[in-house]
Amino acid sequence: MLSIDTKNMTNRLHEENRKRWDAGSAQWARGADSRGLWRRCPAEPELVLSPRELAYLTDIRGKHVAVLGSGDNQVVFALAGLGGAVTSVDISQHQLDVAARRAQELDLAVSFLRADVTDLARLDSSTFDIVYTGGHVAVWVSDLDRYYAEAARILKADGLFVVAEYHPFRRIWKESTHQLIVASSYFERGPFEYDVSEEILHPKPGALKSYEFHWTISDYINAVLKAGCRLLEVDEFGKDVADWEGAPLNGLPEHFLVVARKEAGQPA
Ligand SMILES: C[S@@+](CC[C@H](N)C(=O)[O-])C[C@H]1O[C@@H](n2cnc3c(N)ncnc32)[C@H](O)[C@@H]1O
Repeated sequence: MLSIDTKNMTNRLHEENRKRWDAGSAQWARGADSRGLWRRCPAEPELVLSPRELAYLTDIRGKHVAVLGSGDNQVVFALAGLGGAVTSVDISQHQLDVAARRAQELDLAVSFLRADVTDLARLDSSTFDIVYTGGHVAVWVSDLDRYYAEAARILKADGLFVVAEYHPFRRIWKESTHQLIVASSYFERGPFEYDVSEEILHPKPGALKSYEFHWTISDYINAVLKAGCRLLEVDEFGKDVADWEGAPLNGLPEHFLVVARKEAGQPA
């Protein structure tokens, strides 16, 4: 783990992460093309949203929805297919370009905005009925409180805030086929620095870095509460273990969900 004072480093670390996602987006897009989910999820949202999430998201026709850290945009397309007027926000222009091409092909009306989730100044306060974020986004963000405060700011009073993230219990293990060995304490938030040059087929070692943050379950819940939201549900679920996870994680929760509403009377 790096010892970095992240207070004034946010932009630099996020900027490195942005470069990493821009560089990796073509490769990421090829993977998504081979799975083909993005074509199906507008008509079959259950392919990319769990029943627990869908319980809050089925009745969204005509509602204004923001998806923060939209990545492969499968959730964006599912929510657009359910009738939401969706704004897809991501820090990587390359990721957004891929998504915009796909949205056009699927004839889905989606607005795209390149922005850092900790600074959504280009979105007006109190404009969205729903803000959805998750699927490995917070791990790239150095300031969870600012991120969720921005999410709450753009929500209308009583608007719905849905956080559906990879469970932090899955992040702390060494690569091993048969044994769980702690690689970093659950309480070490990072930043964890990785050289991802080789992973993204970049020729020069060290040219691409990424910075990851390991937030705890209480960090997530407290950030939602500090943002001025009241909790409706907290859940932990899922048991699938993917090849890339590299450790025998069976028996540990795969995802967690926090559903909240912005309290009326919160500053816009
Ligand atoms: C692993 S993807 C996950 C996103 C999406 N849920 C998915 O399943 O594809 C992470 C995305 O978060 C975006 N991202 C990383 N840091 C960000 C930041 N500070 N602000 C906005 N987006 C960010 C990346 O560009 C990338 O598209």
